[in-house]
Amino acid sequence: MIYCWQIVAVTYRTDSEANRDGRGGPHREVFQHYTDLTVHDAPSGAFFFIGGSMRKKMTIPEILKMKRDGKRITALTAYDFPFARLVDGGGVDIILVGDSAGVVVAGHDTTLPVTMDEMLYHTRAVVRADPKALVVADMPFMSYQTGIEDACRNCGRMIKEGGAQAVKIEGGSNMAHVIRAVSAIDIPVMAHIGLTPQSVHRMGGFRVQGRNDQAERIMDDAIAVQHAGAFAVTLEGIPASLAAEISAKLTIPTIGIGAGPSCDGQVLVIHDILGLCEKYSPKFVKRYADLAPLISAAVEQYVAEVRSGEFPTEEHSFS
Ligand code: KIV
Repeated sequence: MIYCWQIVAVTYRTDSEANRDGRGGPHREVFQHYTDLTVHDAPSGAFFFIGGSMRKKMTIPEILKMKRDGKRITALTAYDFPFARLVDGGGVDIILVGDSAGVVVAGHDTTLPVTMDEMLYHTRAVVRADPKALVVADMPFMSYQTGIEDACRNCGRMIKEGGAQAVKIEGGSNMAHVIRAVSAIDIPVMAHIGLTPQSVHRMGGFRVQGRNDQAERIMDDAIAVQHAGAFAVTLEGIPASLAAEISAKLTIPTIGIGAGPSCDGQVLVIHDILGLCEKYSPKFVKRYADLAPLISAAVEQYVAEVRSGEFPTEEHSFS
């Protein structure tokens, strides 16, 4: 359904127009109208970018309704303004500002070194893109494990200073008290169970969880986080059959990553699906584009053209 049009008109003024009002050189103006204007109402000389904003802002009740209505929920990570614009423009329901930023952006081997300040920085950059998707910010290691008071304060910062609409907390039954406390102060929590990357040392690596006699524990975790008030739960790295059972049992949506096709939604890391992480590609990732060679080729061409004098030309220079 179309709720509004966003029309961004970018007008390039001529030198003579710019000189008339004394504001200097060629200049551009950006107007944003959240109205039902059509292109015919535009100032002449303007061109338009239309789209991206024909959706209503996604909300927690709408995410819950998607599960009830059997509509699959789509989620991807983003960590900065340009990717948030692109991911949102692609129509995802949820943008996860994942602490995977520590790995795919900052180059760490695990998510453990990621700090509150770093997550706030990434979350603010994503929120500045004004996405229609629900923005869920990951809580970094040691920002919530140390007790309810720390958890409430830090989750509150992610909403108040970061601008996220919800937070994500890793852990099941062991973190139910934290999820309950944070949910009780009206901060929506997405839980995260199964392969929880912040538990890498306990798990002895990034290993599939919930096989054989571990399955019951994962099911118990799922029930515990729902009872504690989580609005959704990420199921990571568990057998597809177990994820299907959990998804059928819970009333809150399950968002899978490496958890098979029966989850209520799916999430992946944007760098993985675009082929920007050449180091390691997990089995559960599908690569939708292979951008790394394209970027390398563009950089190589730029370097060659600067060295040869082919760039810049008159076209890229001011008179
Ligand atoms: O940090 C992250 O990106 C995540 C997803 C992989 C679920 O937690």
